Amino acid sequence: MDAISLKQKPSTPLRHVLSSSQFDRPSLEYLCQLTNTIRRFDKSREGLAYLASLLSHKRAMLYFTQPSTRTFLSFHSACQIVGITASEIRDAATSSERKGESVEDSLRTFSSYVDLIIMRSPIAGLCDRIAALLDATPRPVPIINAGSGPDEHPTQALLDIYTLTRSLRTRGGIDGKTICMVGDLKRGRTVRSLSRLLANYQGVTLRFSSPPAFRIADDLRRDLAAAGVAFVETDEFLSAVAGADAVYMTRIQDEYDLEADARGTVDYRRYHLRAEHLPALREDCVIMHPLPRRDELDPEIDRDPRAKYWRQERNGMWVRVAVLTMLFGVDNRVELPEL
Ligand code: NCD
Repeated sequence: MDAISLKQKPSTPLRHVLSSSQFDRPSLEYLCQLTNTIRRFDKSREGLAYLASLLSHKRAMLYFTQPSTRTFLSFHSACQIVGITASEIRDAATSSERKGESVEDSLRTFSSYVDLIIMRSPIAGLCDRIAALLDATPRPVPIINAGSGPDEHPTQALLDIYTLTRSLRTRGGIDGKTICMVGDLKRGRTVRSLSRLLANYQGVTLRFSSPPAFRIADDLRRDLAAAGVAFVETDEFLSAVAGADAVYMTRIQDEYDLEADARGTVDYRRYHLRAEHLPALREDCVIMHPLPRRDELDPEIDRDPRAKYWRQERNGMWVRVAVLTMLFGVDNRVELPEL
């Protein structure tokens, strides 16, 4: 087997992962290739033991005060893979925040004990605030944004790019493709972060399909226009998904509804992808969903070879391993020796 030489490492080292706008095309390509290389270590006991030795001197805190299954578990598993010991808070009610401690003080406290904080919170912008706060202390530790309210979810966007890159690799990659995003585009942070990353690819067209109440937010519309990305917004569903190279389904984000019964006020059923719609999709369409799903993605579709969301979920763990190695600067030690 030939030694794998990784594409040029980006010149700016990764300090925090706060927003998808931190990533440019070379860094995305580097991350995808690094992830591919890391996955090859999974094939042998020796490979996994090597990965587990890379960061066995580091500790991380997973601070998740919003519900999470995949992001939490994939980060937890990613930490284990590279040997990082992870501790967790999953409910602010079990920390001193319950005694009235500010979230800033709580996070500063974690930074006294660990080398990395991976955090999810319902508060948009909190990660940036904490990163700035810790950078001004004698013991700054990196912050990874694992979801900041309806704002950003950069590592989800990275794993989405990785999944798209792999799924489209025989078709010239992401450049020139049409990607249709469906659902609650206003409050879905995965759509916001992924759209910003897709702006790094040439000739991509974005189709945003949603009920009028859930159109993309003004700031994203402005940023995409400024970046010269071609996009259309429509309340049509079938005509939007038909012909798209990838369809990215999302659920309604009703945890952000102010009134308890607001969910009933928007008719979302028109934006459900059902098995009967499959013939309308391209034969090679990449069907994605950040998960969790509700009724917007029929489980019958799981059997269709175009369904990539379960793979997308697993890819998340490996992409997060790659991000951890980059954050701690050990990505240059991820090289397969010549065998
Ligand atoms: C997403 C999230 O939390 O934003 N889930 C995830 O991280 N995979 C999507 C969602 O909750 O709808």
